[in-house]
Order: sequence, then structure tokens, then C-alpha cells
Amino acid sequence: MPTFTYDGTTIPFEPGETIIKAAWRQGIEIPHYCWHPGLSAPANCRMCLVEIAPAPGQRAMMLDVLEWDPALNDYRPRQKPKLQPACQMQAAEGMQVRGDTSENVREARKGVQEFLLLNHPVDCPICDQSGECKLQDYWLEHGQYQKRMRDEPIHKPKAVRFGPSIVYDAERCVMCTRCIRFMDEVAQDPVLDMRERGNLNEVFVAPGRELTGHYTFMTEHVCPVGALTTVDFRFKARVWFLRTAKSVCQGCATGCNAHLDYDPRYNKVYRYRPRDNEQVNQYWMCDEGMVSYKRAHTDRVLDPRVKGATATVKKALEAAKSQLEGVPGEGVAVVLSAQHSLEDNWALRELAGTFLGTRSFYATGLGEGYADTILIHADKNPNTRGVLELVPSLRSFGQLIDDIEAGKITHVIALGGETPVADSRTEAALDRLAGLVVIAAHDGPLARAAHVILPATSWAESSGTYVNAKGLHQVAEKAIEPQGAAAPGWQLVAELGQALGYDAQWTKLKQVRARMIQVPTVPESFTVRPSSQATP
Ligand code: SF4
Ligand code: SF4
Ligand code: FES
Repeated sequence: MPTFTYDGTTIPFEPGETIIKAAWRQGIEIPHYCWHPGLSAPANCRMCLVEIAPAPGQRAMMLDVLEWDPALNDYRPRQKPKLQPACQMQAAEGMQVRGDTSENVREARKGVQEFLLLNHPVDCPICDQSGECKLQDYWLEHGQYQKRMRDEPIHKPKAVRFGPSIVYDAERCVMCTRCIRFMDEVAQDPVLDMRERGNLNEVFVAPGRELTGHYTFMTEHVCPVGALTTVDFRFKARVWFLRTAKSVCQGCATGCNAHLDYDPRYNKVYRYRPRDNEQVNQYWMCDEGMVSYKRAHTDRVLDPRVKGATATVKKALEAAKSQLEGVPGEGVAVVLSAQHSLEDNWALRELAGTFLGTRSFYATGLGEGYADTILIHADKNPNTRGVLELVPSLRSFGQLIDDIEAGKITHVIALGGETPVADSRTEAALDRLAGLVVIAAHDGPLARAAHVILPATSWAESSGTYVNAKGLHQVAEKAIEPQGAAAPGWQLVAELGQALGYDAQWTKLKQVRARMIQVPTVPESFTVRPSSQATP
């Protein structure tokens, strides 16, 4: 691989790659505002200027400039090397690039900072980007000058509603055009543009339009300063109080990688941010996914219930035992959930296959919905591939309803409260069951119809593996502590097994994972032990 040097560090690059991107891949940040690894590079902010040594045998390109000399109290002529934007300049073999080590570059960065902050309001204490703003960071690293402008700054529109989800503050905008390019190049809806020039520059929404669609939140996330904020997160939390977990969005089968930000003081989740993964979501998430962090707290099953009344876990397990004991395996359906983790599903399959002796595996989860060619998948479940890996011959939820109506299935043990369809036929069929034991994190028709329900942790409260539509196994790490009486689904399955008299030998997540690795997938011919041979 060809290489170049940046401040003496050797950096490999792919042919055609820019200096800034190759450095960024190596974990070296060349300061920038307008550059984003997923967008085109207009080179309009000039923060990434670097000094490049001339190629062997060539003269350096020099510029004639006038420089203020305080001793002379006048300008004097000087020559400076012409700096280049690292975001547009392609790397070349043997190139010698200087950033921090060049006095000219340091001066240029300082100048850009001063220029950007000429009219920028000093409202960091009330700005939502405070704590993660590039203007603040770079001022500290590359600015640190006395403000020379004594005039009143230019005032521009503040708190402008671009649409239902995004608010724009023109005074804070550094005109990097990232939001404009994102809507054009990624969301494929060029609804934003720039108007006026110089100090009066501002971003605006096309006349007659609002900033709407499935990717409006991303404009806030690409904004390097606090000019764009989401109505959802605005003024809700200070970022320095938040902790983050590496998570996986649960909104659809794409499985976008995300940061799940939470406040440990309140055990509360506040937002999702995209986490870069070039194989899955690159740098983006959709709006529906971005607001789905709320599911950590809404529609949750937080208490064990027996016939609708709150109970202790012990009482619920006893009730489940009395419902299921002695029922022939043939009449028991086990329902895996595409909403739950691979670990939860593996535990239930293990219990069902090894001990209960059922051959009837079905799947549940949410139904299909909107899809596009950017990120959004029609399958609104994060783990459909996962449950199919565990039991490839899984029958559909519709088949379960048919089998209940035909009287073949009398008892159900299910993971997850959701169903793909929530209609009166589903409700009527579930009502016919003699026994319905549900282990679920979220409410839904199955949870509401359950005779016994055990509260499971959601993806935000326990670490779990999810297999996305492409078959990638991805781990969503635990963020907050379990809410209410919730416990990990795999643990509740083990407790249910023990209540039924079986020796479910997994008490720790690592044990579940170690055994999952031994049996990564179940072949089509997966057989279960008949109930008559079940290990008591
Ligand atoms: S709103 Fe933000 S992303 Fe858009 S041009 Fe201004 S600073 Fe850049
Ligand atoms: S595309 Fe799917 S996984 Fe990605 S953010 Fe949207 S809902 Fe979440
Ligand atoms: S990052 Fe290169 S000019 Fe803006």
C-alpha cells in the first residue's frame, strides 16, 4: 500500500483517497468543519489546510502576502507557501504533509477560527451542542486569541423551525453545507440550500417545503456546531452527564450501529446517535430508528402478572408450572421472537427442544412496513435472521393462529409480546388457549392475552446479539440497569425450566454465549426429544 507522512507519521492510503480521509482512518484528525467521510468535499471552511512539501525537483508554490508588523506599525510584504485543503487533496506516494508542525498551518487554523467566530454568538452555555462542538474544541486547540472585532456582530434568525423535527439557528451556522449535502447526496431530497453571501449567508428550506422525510435527524448529526438541533433532544440533557453504550438499532432488520446515550443518575435513555459501520449503515440512521430509543421506557412489561394481576416472580413461575405441567408436548407451541436477542431465543429453543419435547416452533415479532433503498428495511424486527438461524423450519405466526383454531395447539410459551398482526382474529385465537406463558420486554397482543407474564429486560438493559438482514451478528451492549422487576429473557427461561423441574444449566450470559457458539445453527433436521422422554 502506498504511504505518505503527516507530521512525520507514516500513513497508508488507498489510491484516490484524500489526505484527510487516510489520516482519519489511522485515527489522526486533521481539523475540519465541512468535510465528512460520507459526503462530497466542497472545501469551503478551509480549516483543514496543510502544508505539502514540493515534489522532488519542483519549486514550492509561494504566495505574496502583506503582513501586519506591529513594530513597524504598517504592513510589510512577505511570501508564504500556498496551503492546500487536506479534504480535497489526494494523497500521493511519498508526499510529506505538515499540520501542527507547520507555523503557517497553525496560523491559518487560528485565522479560520477567528473568522468563523467573528459573528458567532457566545451562547455556549445554552447551546445544545455544548460539550461536543467542534468550534469549542478547535478554539481550544487552534484558536486562543484575543477577539479583535469590536463591532456589533451580525444578527441572523434564531430558532427557525425547518420542519416538525429540526430547529435552525442561523447565527451559529458556520456554512459548512454538510446538512445541505446530506439531504442532497444521502437522503436524496435536496430540500436545503444556502442563500445570500458573506456575513448574510444562511441555510434555508426550499420555498413551499418543510424539512420532512425519513432522514431529517441526520442533518443535526452532521452539523459540526449547534446550528441544527432536534426538537426531540433540544434542552433535555447536557452531554457531559450522559454515558454511552455501543448499541444496535432495533427498528428494523438493517441493524444500524448506534450509540445509545443515557444518564446513569436517572437510569434513563436520552437519544441514539449513529455509530460508524461501513458494512451496515455507514454513518447514518433513519428518523424512525433515531427516535426508537424511547422504546427503552415505553410500552414496557415491568412486573410479573398472573391473569392480569401483578404477582411476584415466584408466584408467576408457580402459575406457569401449573399451566404447563403434564401437557403433552404435541399441543405445546414454542414461539421465538424476532424482537428478542439471540441469547433469549437460544435459551427458549434449548428449553423447548431439550426438555419440553415440542416440535412446534413458531415466530413472532412486528409486521412489515415502509422500506427504501437507503437504509430502511421492510422487516421491522432486528433479529429475524437470528431466529431463523436457530430454527430454520420456523413456522409463521399466521400458521400458529391456524393451528390454534384447528385445535392442534392448546398451550403456548412465547418470547416477546408483539405480533405481526393485531386484529380480532388474533385476539380470539389467543383467547382460546388453555395456557399462554409469555416472557416479554414489550407490550403487545401476546403480552395482553398472557395468563402468566414474566418481564424481560429490553436491549437497553442487557447485552444481546442480533443478526441483521445481511446475516451479521452484532452485539448491543447494556446501557441502563434493568427497570422494574425485569430480568434477562434467557435467565427467565432458565427459571421457567427449573420451575418445570428441568436442569437448565445457564446462569450467566457468558455460559449462554459459550453454548451458543458450540451450536451456532440448528440444521433443518433438528429433532426434539418427545415429551415422554423429557428429562425431568
Ligand atoms: S446548519 Fe450546521 S451543517 Fe448546516 S451549514 Fe450550518 S453549520 Fe453546516
Ligand atoms: S434503518 Fe432500521 S436499523 Fe437503521 S436506524 Fe432506521 S430503523 Fe434503525
Ligand atoms: S474540511 Fe477541508 S475545507 Fe473544510
